[in-house]
Amino acid sequence: MSKPLVSILMGSANDWEIMQQAARQLQDFGVAHDARVISAHRSPDLLFDYIKDVSAQGVKCFIAGAGAAAHLAGVVAGKTTLPVLGVPMPSKYLQGMDSLLSTVQMPKGIPVATFAIGEAGAANAGLFAVAMLALNDAELARRLQAFRSKQAEAIKATALPTL
Ligand code: RP5
Repeated sequence: MSKPLVSILMGSANDWEIMQQAARQLQDFGVAHDARVISAHRSPDLLFDYIKDVSAQGVKCFIAGAGAAAHLAGVVAGKTTLPVLGVPMPSKYLQGMDSLLSTVQMPKGIPVATFAIGEAGAANAGLFAVAMLALNDAELARRLQAFRSKQAEAIKATALPTL
């Protein structure tokens, strides 16, 4: 198994149903990744140790998904200068608005690139990681372009039903 280029973190195993969309995109593009449940508030020491270890292995960015008072992405960003992509999880009472605002409203100086709430956000975070890696990988860039072209072709071939 090659060393991970992308680390996917989530605050709870309950986030995996959504966060697997990020993993699927990376898998489809053949990008080595690591996926873990590590909570910023339930296991902060483990989080700090993990960030250190995986960074030493050569990881290029983190995708962090968390819900409610979602501080996982922000805490990761506070411990590394690598890019951190935040994915707000849908939450039970506020439908992910709490997660979105907690993730996106980072104070100046420690950025978190925040994606949409839920599956689309997780998938797009995976695709964004692919786009960053493709800057230095011509074959990956070619595959990303082919993925985009396929979407354009699907739109072009879409016919509306007649009235
Ligand atoms: C966050 O709290 C997790 O990211 C999760 O989205 C949310 C609820 O966690 P569980 O109670 O479902 O484990 O830390």
